[in-house]
Amino acid sequence: MPIEEVINNNSEDNNNKVLKDSDNKDYVNDLRPKILKEYVGQTKVVDSLRTAIKASGARNEAMEHVLFHGPPGLGKTTLAHVIAKEKKSNLVVTSGPSLEKPADVVGLLSNLSEGDVLFIDEIHRISKGVEEYFYSAMEDFKVDFITGSGTFAKTLTFPINKFTLVGATTRVGMLSSPLRDRFGLTYHLDFYNLEELSSIIKRSSNILNVKINDMATKQIAMRSRGTPRIANRLLRRVRDYHQVNSKTDNIDDLVASKAMELEGVDQNGLDRLDRQYLLTLAKNYNGGPAGIEALAATLNEESQTLMDVVEPYLLKIGFIIRTPSGRKVTIDGLKYAGIQVRKSDDNQKRMF
Ligand SMILES: Nc1ncnc2c1ncn2[C@@H]1O[C@H](COP(=O)(O)OP(=O)(O)OP(=O)(O)O)[C@@H](O)[C@H]1O
Ligand SMILES: [Mg+2]
Repeated sequence: MPIEEVINNNSEDNNNKVLKDSDNKDYVNDLRPKILKEYVGQTKVVDSLRTAIKASGARNEAMEHVLFHGPPGLGKTTLAHVIAKEKKSNLVVTSGPSLEKPADVVGLLSNLSEGDVLFIDEIHRISKGVEEYFYSAMEDFKVDFITGSGTFAKTLTFPINKFTLVGATTRVGMLSSPLRDRFGLTYHLDFYNLEELSSIIKRSSNILNVKINDMATKQIAMRSRGTPRIANRLLRRVRDYHQVNSKTDNIDDLVASKAMELEGVDQNGLDRLDRQYLLTLAKNYNGGPAGIEALAATLNEESQTLMDVVEPYLLKIGFIIRTPSGRKVTIDGLKYAGIQVRKSDDNQKRMF
């Protein structure tokens, strides 16, 4: 059965995990906001979800299917857990790549109870062969399963309890439109601003029992590239550095900056791979345009990593742009990469 985790939110013990994967995810789970009130930022998404949860609750119905899309580490999985918790529903967790065989999907769907939340991570990676089973499951709450072949082929129809499908993807463009259209609620998660990141860092440092001053918090927020997962990771690295190298009680901005420099994270939050990407585009490809596959080959990296992890933030801060003919570095990107910009280019803010 392709289930990774089942969380029972309506039992006495709220965190009772019936099935759990082998990873030790405890620290991640501790830092994860559990309810909407704890969730920082994404205010429009949170407001809309709060309304949908309340309205469906008042009607005593399962909520409509929800799709979250956006770059990694912005809170898609967290929101899936929050929805199940707020609805006091069971959460069944699985992922696109593990849904390979129709029999797996039929088994998974027909085992759902009324009101369950089924979370499918990386939903863009479910195989074409099983995707169609979700169409009738999502719309009509039934699945048609074909057994045998030729003249012996038989269609068995299984009714399914009314459930809520929550899908998450970093690549919404890769979802087929029949699947995408079956989600009643679709949300794009965007990068967090400095204020939001600072309050996430404050919240996490309280949970982890780390004493940190405001300036150090801001330093971490500035280098977190708009991403809560990175903010939490940097906080843990800063905590380690402080524990070993500092005698002060509170973490100050000097300690925080030193720790993050050691990690190779600069003031803009860019790391080694980001810098290599910019330098390669600027120098090897003369500023671009360059195709993603060519860049990936030169950098010896997966194109998927570049598209999911590196590019979204470089686009967001305006260091690169995407054009039909490929990626281009901007004047700001060139300046950052330490490449001299011709005066005329600088004045006109033109591309290289
Ligand atoms: N709004 C938020 N407030 C506080 N912490 C958050 C928030 N969003 C995310 N986090 C923290 O960031 C971590 C990463 O979030 P999450 O796993 O939900 O991201 P994701 O969007 O599912 O990423 P991926 O695409 O890689 O699966 C969480 O463990 C959580 O601690
Ligand atoms: Mg996730």
